[in-house]
Amino acid sequence: MDDLQWREGLFESFDKLVEIEVCKQKSLVPENNKILRGFQYLKTDTISVGDYCWNGDCVNCQIWYEADAGEIKGALACKMYVREGLVISALSAELQEDLFGD
Ligand code: FES
Repeated sequence: MDDLQWREGLFESFDKLVEIEVCKQKSLVPENNKILRGFQYLKTDTISVGDYCWNGDCVNCQIWYEADAGEIKGALACKMYVREGLVISALSAELQEDLFGD
């Protein structure tokens, strides 16, 4: 199966990528998808086999992002959708390791 085929089944339909910032690193992820799917798009090998329930129970996908007026809010990456310009300032230990670990 080539890259595109598995992606079609995994992601909610998208026509373009949107730019988000993850710990000061700009990244392009599929629009119309949850943040955790976006992370999976970026680091498929680690996120796919990571310790994530994908349904709001484990809290391993906790992120902190900049809301309106620069306020920092917590959210679950498996519940929240990406949006253009989203700035994620901190990650759970699991996400930190899976996205930026060796
Ligand atoms: S992956 Fe378990 S709460 Fe999000």
